[in-house]
Amino acid sequence: MDITIIGGGPAGLFFSLLMKRRDPAHRIAVLERNGPDDTFGWGVVFSDETLNNIAAADPESYAEITHSFAHWDAIDIHYQGEVLTSRGHGFSGLSRKRLLNILQRRAQALGVDLRFHQEVSDVEPLRRGDLLLAADGANSLVRGRHAEAFRPTLDWRPNKFIWLGTTRRFDAFTFFFKRDAHGLWRVHAYQFDAGHGTFIVETTEAAWRSAGLANASEDDTIAFCEALFAEELQGHKLLKSRALWRSFPTVRNERWSFDRVALIGDAAHTAHFSVGSGTKLAMEDAIALADALARAPGDVPAALAAYEAARRPEVEALQRAAQASLQWFEETERYFGTLEPLEFAASLLTRSLRITHANLKQRDPDFVARLDRWFAAKAANQSGVNVPAEPAPPPMFTPFRLRDMLLANRVVVSPMCQYSAEDGMPDDWHFVHLGSRAVGGAGLIMTEMTDVSRDGRISPGCAGLYKSEHAAGWQRIVDFVHRASGAKIGIQLAHAGRKASTRRSWEGDSEPLPQGNWPIIAPSPIPYFPHSQVPRAMDRAEMDRVREDFVRAARLADEAGFDMIELHFAHGYLLASFLSPLTNRRADEYGGSLANRMRYPLEVFAAVRAAWPAQKPMSVRISATDWMPDGFTPADAVAVALALKAAGCDIIDVSAGQTVPDQRPVYGRLFQTPFADRVRHEAAIPTMTVGNISSYADVNSILVAGRADLCVLARAHLYDPYWTRHAAYEQGYALPWPDPYGALARYTPRFT
Ligand SMILES: Cc1cc2nc3c(=O)[nH]c(=O)nc-3n(C[C@H](O)[C@H](O)[C@H](O)COP(=O)(O)OP(=O)(O)OC[C@H]3O[C@@H](n4cnc5c(N)ncnc54)[C@H](O)[C@@H]3O)c2cc1C
Ligand SMILES: Cc1cc2nc3c(=O)[nH]c(=O)nc-3n(C[C@H](O)[C@H](O)[C@H](O)COP(=O)(O)O)c2cc1C
Repeated sequence: MDITIIGGGPAGLFFSLLMKRRDPAHRIAVLERNGPDDTFGWGVVFSDETLNNIAAADPESYAEITHSFAHWDAIDIHYQGEVLTSRGHGFSGLSRKRLLNILQRRAQALGVDLRFHQEVSDVEPLRRGDLLLAADGANSLVRGRHAEAFRPTLDWRPNKFIWLGTTRRFDAFTFFFKRDAHGLWRVHAYQFDAGHGTFIVETTEAAWRSAGLANASEDDTIAFCEALFAEELQGHKLLKSRALWRSFPTVRNERWSFDRVALIGDAAHTAHFSVGSGTKLAMEDAIALADALARAPGDVPAALAAYEAARRPEVEALQRAAQASLQWFEETERYFGTLEPLEFAASLLTRSLRITHANLKQRDPDFVARLDRWFAAKAANQSGVNVPAEPAPPPMFTPFRLRDMLLANRVVVSPMCQYSAEDGMPDDWHFVHLGSRAVGGAGLIMTEMTDVSRDGRISPGCAGLYKSEHAAGWQRIVDFVHRASGAKIGIQLAHAGRKASTRRSWEGDSEPLPQGNWPIIAPSPIPYFPHSQVPRAMDRAEMDRVREDFVRAARLADEAGFDMIELHFAHGYLLASFLSPLTNRRADEYGGSLANRMRYPLEVFAAVRAAWPAQKPMSVRISATDWMPDGFTPADAVAVALALKAAGCDIIDVSAGQTVPDQRPVYGRLFQTPFADRVRHEAAIPTMTVGNISSYADVNSILVAGRADLCVLARAHLYDPYWTRHAAYEQGYALPWPDPYGALARYTPRFT
């Protein structure tokens, strides 16, 4: 093959040598604007997994790379005068320059035509061979020239950072956090050879401007950073290397190739430096592309498609982790000074979701034992219940108190509509559904969305609490839960608003009924789908009536013996549709500003709070974002949470979306947890988090990192009513069985 590569960074060089290694007959030229030794930057980091991939692809490069390594296994977090050390992480680093020199020599030895000091400014003449590879980094010229084919997006992040070097030795991957008059400064530092370390300084744009760094020369920046970090540098200097303050672009491309032109490495995708994976991704791309070309000889377009198909899922997973990580560093102000040291360390270590409480425990049992002891002591203090410290229980098995309601653990069965009621009446299905989940070990069981009036039901199958018979029906379930399990049970009260009078979900989610529709109400006459029924805009009398329906339901809920009420302010139902500017277009004092849009939901909350016994807690489920431009935002969620807290709400159950059918959610593991985290810290109120939580490792991580106080699982509980019992078994925690199941105390389940 005749291949031209623009860019002699890790991606271009490694690909060139892998191709030559496979077939010396390939003609490969690498055009690099710099000389062989004048690279920017300092060190790069590899994990053991990446090294295995490199070893398999080219043992010679691997041998040389590993020969040059600095190894370390600890992460040191310097926070408020303490150093928190977590071990067992297994990183290796080397200088970027050394890595490039190794790859250059190896490429040259295999016969690659390396041409330094060749700045490419015109791409077209280079498109004559079999393949033109754009390995030209994050600012790729080729990508820019063919933007219509690659369809790139560049998400420029707000923080400023600079990549410096230092002669100070670091024994661990080290994070410093330091506040001065300008703001909070973060440092990511690590050793990469005997005499040098990387020292990346990062801060907000506001702090950077305030410190006068926007117009500073490289020398001024170094002087500023040396003074600021004099103590951390321990008398060592900072070193420069064409250092500039930059903003980080997350680069994505809809396509990585067209015709015979392909993107690789940073040109195709970037991952924030705080996950230290840019070089890894670049080199793994090179391996995948060389493999794909070998598998489809003579068919370059097919090989390019196979390369993208193979790499994209892994790259996107890493970009999601990097996104969570960079956001943590953009929002460190939220945690700094608020979180206790161990909690801060847990939050930092688990930020990207790639490290959980479970892998931390494997890597560093002592650190996790300390963390769990600290968490258990905090739980004991919060709940007023004794919690053993030696050994401390897994965080999910610590108690939590809301007013007089004491939860034995932090797992909650999420409200889930069953569409199995007749005229609102809970029946045997609800009895078995909720009863089995209570026996399954969760600390709190929530009923499905239970409607406060007949017309407020989503569908004809929805449960209700608008007649005294309903209270009796619910009481049978509540009594069973209290008698047969240690769980508490809460009821989610709601009115479906413009999403009322629709089919059961399995007959067509939110679709209007084919017949038998009833009139529906909302803040504004906006239908859910264009073909949905148009709701009537509520007048004041109707608002009074619905508020009183909620109050009646609260009294009936008390009669039925429920431990908690949750008001449903989420998912586009009536009270949610007052909050969202997309569904509330009122011109009176209930529409317009957020304060106006909150007015009616808060009025309902206050009326229910007054009717509900003072010793029993209340929660509110909110949708923290509409996932739409111009919709309800996470900042609005904080404002609503603050108002609810002032009105006597005990905990916010933070969900998201379902306000409008054309929402654009970003799904993923724990995808809604960042909103619970934000509300918890910015409104200083306990939160429940829900959404794609399915492992006990994630539950424990969320709790110790202070992202939420309770973890709510929906589908995981549909699948496995005994989810909490399984989690206890897996963690070696003795969760007592109800007496009739006592025989299980000495039973070991075997599934294979
Ligand atoms: C602050 C910071 C810290 C980082 N830390 C790490 C880390 O710890 N670990 C890690 O793995 N990664 C790290 N990275 C990321 C890493 O540097 C890149 O992800 C990696 O180098 C990507 O390799 P690449 O070959 O795709 O691109 P690059 O390394 O950027 O190489 C592109 C090459 O193309 C050349 N070039 C560009 N345009 C032209 C042109 N028109 N003509 C000729 N030549 C051209 C450039 O000179 C350059 O040599 C960090 C990045 C930053 C910014
Ligand atoms: C069958 C089903 C019914 C649901 N009904 C409700 C409901 O009544 N009230 C509510 O607030 N959320 C409801 N949800 C949303 C869940 O409570 C939860 O927020 C969502 O499923 C995300 O959690 P998960 O990823 O653990 O499933 C329902 C979800 C499912 C799967």
